[in-house]
Amino acid sequence: MTAAKKILPPARWRGELERVLITEEQIARRVRALTTELQRDFAGRELVVVSLLSGTVMFLADLIRHLELPLRLDFIGVSSYGSGTETGELVFTKELKLDVRGRDVLLVDDILDTGKTIRRVTEKLRLLKPRCLKTCVLLEKKARRSEKVRADYVGFQIPDLFVVGYGLDYAERYRNLPFVGVLKPEIYRT
Ligand code: IMP
Ligand code: MG
Repeated sequence: MTAAKKILPPARWRGELERVLITEEQIARRVRALTTELQRDFAGRELVVVSLLSGTVMFLADLIRHLELPLRLDFIGVSSYGSGTETGELVFTKELKLDVRGRDVLLVDDILDTGKTIRRVTEKLRLLKPRCLKTCVLLEKKARRSEKVRADYVGFQIPDLFVVGYGLDYAERYRNLPFVGVLKPEIYRT
């Protein structure tokens, strides 16, 4: 097995991040490809994009910016009161505002990990009777899946590492980084 080349984060972040996992350029290229896929798959339809707060901020903006489809945008707030890097009890902090009955809904999240979040949210959305419900995530960690869920659109498969940046946080920090980086275990163990 060949070890992937280790990309060091900018000096400012070297104390907290082990390495860059996905660069800004790689993200930009992949997100453009996802936009193209969505445009092809939903051609001629109007989408309701439902995005989960707050991890999707950057991904969502980049994903829909060049999407040439009529769409309406809404947000669901969901917080997981787990301990740091574990998914705990899910609490809805913002409810959907738009009526999605009979609509084509695209649910966007930052990362599919155990699957608890996507499962809970899709169950809730299905009760509202959309015509179709597809899910799109920037990242997927297959290693920790405990629920029987899948995403229809996936940006990148990643190994079982705790990552931050490009919207993803640890304790609400690091969302502003333009790349996805691996957090040093000593940061979340303390
Ligand atoms: P799941 O419910 O276990 O699938 O986890 C999904 C949620 O956990 C995501 O929306 C993230 O907020 C959070 N999460 C899972 N893995 C990571 C990670 O590596 N970095 C940051 N957040 C993560
Ligand atoms: Mg989070």
